[in-house]
Amino acid sequence: MCGIIGYTGTLDAKKVIIEGLKSLEYRGYDSAGIALLKEDPEHSLYIMKEAGPVSVLEESTKEDAVKSGCGIGHTRWATHGGVTDQNAHPHTTGRVTLIHNGIIENYRELINSYNLAEQLVSETDSEVALRIIDYYYEKYQDPVKAIKKAVGVIIGAYSFCIMFAGDPGKIYCIRNVSPLVAAASETGALVASDLTAIVPYTRDYFVLPEDTIAVLSKEGITLTDLSGNPVEPEMLHADWDVESVKKGGYPHFMLKEINEQPEALENTIKPRIAKGLPDFTEDGIPDSLFREAKEICIVACGTANYAGMVGKSIFELLMRIPVNVHIASEFRYEDPLVGPGTLCIVISQSGETIDTLEAMKLAMEKGAKSLAIVNVKGSTIAREADHVFYTHAGPEISVASTKAYSVQLAALYLIACRMAYVRGALSEQAAAAFLQQVLKAVPVIQELLKNVVGMKHVSEKMVKAKDAFYIGRGLDYAFSLEGALKLKEISYVHAEAYPAGELKHGTIALIEEGTPVVAIATQEKIYQKTISNVREVKARGAYVTLITKKGKAAGSDLCDIHLEIPEIEDEFTVFPVAVILQLIAYYTADGKGLDVDKPRNLAKSVTVE
Ligand code: F6R
Repeated sequence: MCGIIGYTGTLDAKKVIIEGLKSLEYRGYDSAGIALLKEDPEHSLYIMKEAGPVSVLEESTKEDAVKSGCGIGHTRWATHGGVTDQNAHPHTTGRVTLIHNGIIENYRELINSYNLAEQLVSETDSEVALRIIDYYYEKYQDPVKAIKKAVGVIIGAYSFCIMFAGDPGKIYCIRNVSPLVAAASETGALVASDLTAIVPYTRDYFVLPEDTIAVLSKEGITLTDLSGNPVEPEMLHADWDVESVKKGGYPHFMLKEINEQPEALENTIKPRIAKGLPDFTEDGIPDSLFREAKEICIVACGTANYAGMVGKSIFELLMRIPVNVHIASEFRYEDPLVGPGTLCIVISQSGETIDTLEAMKLAMEKGAKSLAIVNVKGSTIAREADHVFYTHAGPEISVASTKAYSVQLAALYLIACRMAYVRGALSEQAAAAFLQQVLKAVPVIQELLKNVVGMKHVSEKMVKAKDAFYIGRGLDYAFSLEGALKLKEISYVHAEAYPAGELKHGTIALIEEGTPVVAIATQEKIYQKTISNVREVKARGAYVTLITKKGKAAGSDLCDIHLEIPEIEDEFTVFPVAVILQLIAYYTADGKGLDVDKPRNLAKSVTVE
């Protein structure tokens, strides 16, 4: 949450930072700000910050010619304090200017122990950190010592980028939990919350190790630990380029990312096929992990959690092994029944979701083995897990997750297949056939994307709706959870997913003339049961969109719109169904004229609890 960027070098810092903020905006967009150390004899500070999107900041700073090669910028997702100019970052006092991503948990205690109450001009925890650093800077006149002293008393998650007027041309950084990546390029040194702001300059970068002070100057970056010893970072290479963080002709990142799903799936699945079977040798995931597991627990949040719900059905179907799916923020506080023998599968696109990270750590403390399915290379969850399965979706910029969901599913299907094979639950032949069906998702989605008229048609009804219901049974219910979330988060239409058979136990009271119901019925063994439930809502006036496999009869007595998916076996229908549900949500939000990629109140990477 919150996007932060720092740059020092030979380029125009204002331009680098504003451009960087635009690419980081998906991390939070309540307010934005920039601070530049000017190249005048006093190294005076230029600062501009205000509530609103980066475009507002860009407009306000447009006319200001600031000669500076060193600055920091921030795009905020408010935690402490409302969305105001005053609470926007950077914060500055005396000779210190700071941006922060994270939460300082003991900020109230710090206000008391450092007598800060009278000094604070914002309501943020970040300003408290700033004032403590300033206090020690004035005391010791040494940036590194000031930072060390401050982090010695601060409790919480943070990534800080700090400029000291007495040390022009340099940016000091440190982090705990909250992410920061850094890179030195020919034109200077950069630090940012994530790679999107860095790839226009270089694809070689490193994740700043925790409790390490990075000092950026135009000559490069030096790293030292808190005892002053040099630290050698582990260099990483981004395997995607600057084009992947642009819209590429699409009106929104979300639509682009929906259309990228076939490629994302191929990139995730194909490198992991050896002799016709899923093979994780390159990932360093040993078969013993699968052989020794007595049970599986899946932990994730939001869309990733709904991918886990689909995964549960597949694991249980193939192996008859108990699988529990947990919401990460609940798991942490329910004294979970995990221990040695539990395989804890953690799913996270960003690899930074704090609840998921902490849940994984807890499972590991209790003796479980962790396997993380992560999209962002080098992210915290990826680094802390026992094993990592990287999905290769490329950067997902739109706040609503689409292609990351599909590749998370592919990862789960591949893991289930390998696990069932090594445990003898699937023969070699059956495992190979299963894998072929996963691969079939690629052409099936390609075919589906050729004709989106049906989804647009559904959205015409949705744009006028206040409430909508998504129903299904078994796997179809798991898909509907994700469909309802997608609609809610970007179109602000209240949507609920319901097991189709459960509706009559209360919720059916909400169905009235014209209420949109999206019914998913792709599972042959429960098809007729779901259809009976569809008839129940249709009889009460619902406007029904029915999603089935090809060749099912669906007259106007049963539904208003019938969407058919291309041919694929029942266990794999999630891939085309997901795309249909994503497009319904997309066209609904777009039809309402909403900012599809940046829905209100949300942020892409949820690094607060
Ligand atoms: C919804 C969405 C969120 C994320 C959730 C977990 O479209 O994107 O529900 O799925 O915040 O994020 P990650 O996968 O980064 O842990």
